[in-house]
Amino acid sequence: MVDLRVNLAGVEMANPLLTASGTCGYADEYADLLDLRALGAFTTKSITLASRIGNEYPRVVETRAGMLNAIGLANIGLDRFVADKAPLLEKLGIPVFVNVAGVTVEDYVAVASRLEQVEAVRGIELNISCPNVKAGGIQFGTDPVQVCKVVSAVRNVCRKNVLIVKLSPNVTDIAVTARAAVEAGAQILSMINTFTAMAIDIETRKPILANNTGGLSGPAIRPIAVQMVHRVYSQVAKAAGVPIIGMGGIQFAHDAIEFLLAGASAVAVGTALFVDPGGVLAIKDGIAEYLTRHGHSRVSDIVGTLELNGRA
Ligand SMILES: Cc1cc2nc3c(=O)[nH]c(=O)nc-3n(C[C@H](O)[C@H](O)[C@H](O)COP(=O)(O)O)c2cc1C
Repeated sequence: MVDLRVNLAGVEMANPLLTASGTCGYADEYADLLDLRALGAFTTKSITLASRIGNEYPRVVETRAGMLNAIGLANIGLDRFVADKAPLLEKLGIPVFVNVAGVTVEDYVAVASRLEQVEAVRGIELNISCPNVKAGGIQFGTDPVQVCKVVSAVRNVCRKNVLIVKLSPNVTDIAVTARAAVEAGAQILSMINTFTAMAIDIETRKPILANNTGGLSGPAIRPIAVQMVHRVYSQVAKAAGVPIIGMGGIQFAHDAIEFLLAGASAVAVGTALFVDPGGVLAIKDGIAEYLTRHGHSRVSDIVGTLELNGRA
């Protein structure tokens, strides 16, 4: 009998499947499309201190094996989230992680402090890696000194909530920023956010997105994300005992299992939710089938069990 439960830094999840921030709103938007209670946990869209209208349209475009988005952190803001969305999230009955974004360290700390008072919330995911906002955003996630500043400041106010730090792939060596996050107190790492990218309308010779650039997600990024998870797991997270939530182009069980073998303890699904929302739940069955077929009883049995080829 296979046991799909996972424990992420003290958070008990019935299975290793989560939503990726920004692809499933605040849960109520997906109520008719997917039984969210069947997930191991739910991660919200990024929340900022004040509401944001985000970037101008068009702000999404489909590409051959994925999509670009430049939403620009459009969100309802902390007050409305707490008043309107948190009560609904509490009814989900699964752990809820709130993705938090900001422009200054003080912004992040203010949102994180308030979320300590919100019963429905079990953890916060620091979005220090959004490539689509002009102020703040990526500067935090690409500079290890800034990563350390924001993570340690937020860690100081986290008591009830577990602290997840979401890493940007738009760096030379993701192990460097991962190490900075862990040393500053990250209890879980999530990775990866989107890659800065551009699509061009060749007739007008202009970028298709009003923001010019956007973040690439979906199947196109999966092999890069898998490599980055393996790098961070083997160089930082394994020794530190910090679990990884892996994401980037996961749509089927095979994809999720790649991430688990590479070192992720749980997996999040994002862009695939726009293709077949209900279908992602089959990932759980596929993981269970794989574990059975390979004689394992728990998800943790296969985490990080990738066997590299020998080098000559
Ligand atoms: C439309 C869209 C909106 C997103 N919004 C956010 C966000 O608000 N905060 C965040 O941390 N990541 C955001 N992301 C990034 C995803 O959470 C995820 O890291 C990324 O898309 C890779 O996973 P995927 O290929 O499965 O989508 C967004 C992605 C998409 C496609």
